[in-house]
Amino acid sequence: DTPLARKDCLAISRFTPGEIQRLVDKALEIKKKHRDGEAFRPLTGKTLAMIFDKPSTRTRVSFEAGMAQLGGHPLNLNRNELQLGRGESVPDTARVLSGYVDAILIRTFSHELVTELAEHASIPVINGLTDTHHPCQALADLTTLKEEKGKLAGLKLAYIGDGNNMLHSLLEAAAATGIHLAAAFPEGYDPDPVIVSQAQETAAQTGAQITLTRDPREAVVGADAVYTDVWASMGQEEEKERRIRDFAGFQVDAQLMSLTKADASFFHCLPAYRGLEVAAEVIDGPQSVVFQQAENRLHAQKALLVELLG
Ligand code: CP
Ligand code: NVA
Repeated sequence: DTPLARKDCLAISRFTPGEIQRLVDKALEIKKKHRDGEAFRPLTGKTLAMIFDKPSTRTRVSFEAGMAQLGGHPLNLNRNELQLGRGESVPDTARVLSGYVDAILIRTFSHELVTELAEHASIPVINGLTDTHHPCQALADLTTLKEEKGKLAGLKLAYIGDGNNMLHSLLEAAAATGIHLAAAFPEGYDPDPVIVSQAQETAAQTGAQITLTRDPREAVVGADAVYTDVWASMGQEEEKERRIRDFAGFQVDAQLMSLTKADASFFHCLPAYRGLEVAAEVIDGPQSVVFQQAENRLHAQKALLVELLG
């Protein structure tokens, strides 16, 4: 059982395909232990500092509960409770925290800030969402896909909506695991072309196909799973009205779901806005696995913490 080559979790692309598969399998093992009520405390005496510059329900609570379940101690912080909020530098913060705790989880706007923190920290840094990536969510989503479909390679995942942090992490996750990803987004909301081309390079090695289109119907044909995310992400609140207009025709509703495989699952990282990116009939219907995805954040992140800190 070799440790992860990377000490940080900044983006899915930082892991090898083998490491990702291992994390997913470990997440399912840890879920079973949890369900069986088996104590599993490999992180006794370890502390995780959690810095939140944006709101969070799932990430905050699943990391805090997960760390406690593993025998460790979570420390919930936000920028304004730290000197970081008064201009102490990121490198100095990284060096100081490295002397006290065993890992740092951070949710913030700029991905570069997280990279800088990781560069100057001597302990693992975990990205709990930036404007560019959401790797912890993608790890939980792979776990949910494997749990639901029994495999990853060869599945078809359709992503409908904004070319945002969530799509970036799903592109990297699908490419690494051989999942065919078809993404549909309106003009002006394309994913980062650098992330797309890197994912395409990885996909060429794993046999994954990546298809980009403006037509949601084209993307969902034959899909095993359909994924969507909010149209206005955290920090884009002022663009909400414009985005609602620009995303017309991109709602995942029953009609769109009728074009998928009959047993297709509906995915959403949550929080969801019914009547905007998804119709209530879909997210509250029998194909929806959104609460299983949310639960799997706990198990996938426990697997990640054990791999990084164990
Ligand atoms: N999906 C997700 O990351 O949710 P939170 O914003 O509640 O953490
Ligand atoms: N794209 C969303 C994801 C929320 C979990 C956001 O960044 O707000």
